[in-house]
Amino acid sequence: MIRKAVLPVAGFGTRCLPASKAIPKEMITIVDRPVIQYVVQEAVEAGIRDIVLVTHASKSAIENHFDKHFELEASLEAKGKHELLEELRSIVPDDVNIISVRQPEPLGLGHAVLCARPVIGDDEPFAVLLPDVLVDGDQPRNDLAGMVEAFEASGRSQLMVEEVPHERVDKYGIVAPEGEPPAAGQAAPLAGLVEKPAVDEAPSDLAVIGRYALPGAIFPLLAETPPGAGDEIQLTDAIETLRQQDGVDAWRMRGRTYDCGHQLGYLEAILAYGRRHERYGAGFRELLSRYSGEE
Ligand code: G1P
Repeated sequence: MIRKAVLPVAGFGTRCLPASKAIPKEMITIVDRPVIQYVVQEAVEAGIRDIVLVTHASKSAIENHFDKHFELEASLEAKGKHELLEELRSIVPDDVNIISVRQPEPLGLGHAVLCARPVIGDDEPFAVLLPDVLVDGDQPRNDLAGMVEAFEASGRSQLMVEEVPHERVDKYGIVAPEGEPPAAGQAAPLAGLVEKPAVDEAPSDLAVIGRYALPGAIFPLLAETPPGAGDEIQLTDAIETLRQQDGVDAWRMRGRTYDCGHQLGYLEAILAYGRRHERYGAGFRELLSRYSGEE
């Protein structure tokens, strides 16, 4: 059973500057909560109980967000603000642990995941969620839960993929399906995967969107992986080695993604989540129609 997830949050978020100068990019607000809260919630809904943040000294606001704020809670209690208090207390359910480890040097995503090795161990499968990307999808069973189920049924590693415009393939890990590409909500074996290929060399338009179900056996492979694209230790390269040894599947998502690692991506996420928000949706839709006629 996959009960642990690794969330690499050590990166500086240069694409989100100046918003991310003094706060972590993962703390940028989408409607009424930070990006990272949606990602943790997605993991929790998929059955994850231990969230391992791979983090950096400058990003303690993330740990604070998931920690109990005793003084604030006592003050809300004294003022009788019970609804707000309940909302704060349910950010993380009682049976979910937030654990953090440090990535001492920015050596790449593969290296960040390797930093979680002492917490996960080499014998337990785990999920990886890259917190720049919001996955919006079917309720009550989200795409991550579907992919974790596929991992558990087949015992094969899974990479969540979606089709991206051809001219953007050089921004992602790109997969080569062995036969027919998987249908939505299905897995299919891979013949290869490559990190950020040149547009005319990409084996398909199916991109790895930042959700993975992997065995603990990836850790020794990561430890041996030399720097690759961008001179960084790439998770994609270690997964390609794993694929050659044991096989790896692509799992095609049903929902859609919002890339909150850049400004237009999080503005789009605000539009999508704001319009249907329980408390603010009606007011937000009114604002949208008021502004939509303007140039
Ligand atoms: C990382 C991964 C890449 C993946 C992407 C998804 O790249 O290395 O394989 O497709 O996330 O967002 P990054 O965006 O960190 O450069």
